[in-house]
Amino acid sequence: MMNWKKIILIALLVLPLIMLGGFYENIEAKNKNPCGIKNPCSANPCAKNPCAKMEKPKPIRKSAITDSAKLMEIGEKLWNNDKLGKSGVSCATCHSGDVPLKKEPFPKYIKMADDILTLDQMINFCMLNPIQGKPLAWNSHEMTALAAYVQSLPKVEGEAMHPCGMKHPCGMKNPCGKE
Ligand code: HEC
Repeated sequence: MMNWKKIILIALLVLPLIMLGGFYENIEAKNKNPCGIKNPCSANPCAKNPCAKMEKPKPIRKSAITDSAKLMEIGEKLWNNDKLGKSGVSCATCHSGDVPLKKEPFPKYIKMADDILTLDQMINFCMLNPIQGKPLAWNSHEMTALAAYVQSLPKVEGEAMHPCGMKHPCGMKNPCGKE
């Protein structure tokens, strides 16, 4: 019986000490600088500023275009231009009529191309095929303008279609081939 009393007494004395120790340890941990005392940046990935090298970034093209209103204007002109290629039709010919633009975001599977394309690749696919023209340079003002304009246009839900399956693809000239 005596032993039990002793154990309980010791426990009652020791427990608060342990708790107090833990309490101070916590405070110490909180006050410790997570980045080390001497040089907080020594073991820190931010020590080397990745942006330092970026001060003069390499441009993706010779002349930047920063005026989005002007960009839209260029895009709209291209969209409605029926002289972009040999077919004699414009993007608008198909896409404001039988082939509405779809809501599903790029990259996505395009039936006509049987491939998954980004918007820029889609634009160039249409430049090459229905328009029968040359692809636009990836970093050209024209590509950016046309992409911006396409994004601004209304889109519909629904399935993609094949141009050659359309009743009346593009008027007089057949953009689908040399049938
Ligand atoms: C002869 C008709 C025709 C012309 C002209 C044409 N396209 Fe297309 N385009 C299509 C067809 C058809 C599809 C759909 C293919 C599919 O979804 O399988 C398509 C798809 C697209 C899409 C993707 C639509 C979607 O589903 O989100 C974009 C963007 C696009 N064309 C842009 C252009 C641009 C830009 C031009 C002008 C440079 C252009 N197209 C000219 C027929 C045309």
